[in-house]
Amino acid sequence: MDMNVRPRRLRKNEPLRRMVRETRMDKSSLIYPMFVREGINVEEEIPSMPGQYRYSIDRFLFALNQVLESGVDKVMLFGIPNKKDEVGSQAYAEDGIVQRALREAKMRFPEAYLITDVCLCEYTSHGHCGLLCGCEVDNDSTLSLLAQTALSHVEAGADMVAPSDMMDGRVGAIRRKLDDSGHWDTPILSYAVKYASAFYGPFREAAGSAPSFGDRKGYQMDYHNRREGIKEALLDASEGADLLMVKPALAYLDVIEEVKRSTLLPVAAYSVSGEYAMVKAASAMRYIDEAKIICEMAAGTYRAGADIYLTYFAKELAGFMEEGRIG
Ligand code: PBG
Repeated sequence: MDMNVRPRRLRKNEPLRRMVRETRMDKSSLIYPMFVREGINVEEEIPSMPGQYRYSIDRFLFALNQVLESGVDKVMLFGIPNKKDEVGSQAYAEDGIVQRALREAKMRFPEAYLITDVCLCEYTSHGHCGLLCGCEVDNDSTLSLLAQTALSHVEAGADMVAPSDMMDGRVGAIRRKLDDSGHWDTPILSYAVKYASAFYGPFREAAGSAPSFGDRKGYQMDYHNRREGIKEALLDASEGADLLMVKPALAYLDVIEEVKRSTLLPVAAYSVSGEYAMVKAASAMRYIDEAKIICEMAAGTYRAGADIYLTYFAKELAGFMEEGRIG
């Protein structure tokens, strides 16, 4: 046969395939999302996210230790307060749930890298990500509360803050607030390109943060739009974001790729609750091989250009990377 180019030659065996592998992954790029709630000795499984829990602070510390032992040293913290009100005051309370969890975690595990989600929706009685003015979420009056929330996290020990609300100008507002308070060296991971997505359904059940009326389409992005995602990414970079996130991940690989090409910042991708729930449900039905699907989803996300991967499967992935199954 007259064929001088044979792609199969480089697929002959595993050592060779590993040598020519284009996408390399490392567990230092994994971030594991965790939920903390009030109470003592509580470890409550989230019904739509089997294997994920809401922890009281004491149990959270125990779980964090396991995360660290799995080889993942970065977590994204979400708080579930007991009391919600119109202005989300527990989001920026000095003794709020996230603030207390941060202090304890920093003391016990100084090696853990603690990132906090900065948003009001888990803390407002109406479940929206900002202050209401009538039935609208008011952008500008929300900014100072977000900045105050971010500062309270940093003062309690957060290593990095991650605003997820999608208000205009929030990265700049948070940057100024942190700088004015001497925290010029705390990075901001902006949920810059966050779509209004049905993939957040299980998370909202976990955090009790579904909006009580309307939806989030007035601030989160329309999933038909890609150019607008680049606009958001560039804007947040200009406001001082240090890292950019695209969310969700699986249905948005094109967006990850273009953000990566259009900016000079590290790009994170968040494989959200609905992605996790789908994999778990299908694997419970034995329709798919869970471990193989987890690896393939991760590799696809990194291949699209993600430098950082937030996933509820972070512990499993760290194990797979360790075994050489992926990476
Ligand atoms: C808070 C926030 C949400 C998620 C991360 N931060 C929910 C939302 O915007 O409704 C979703 C995470 C997930 O689904 O795993 N605004």
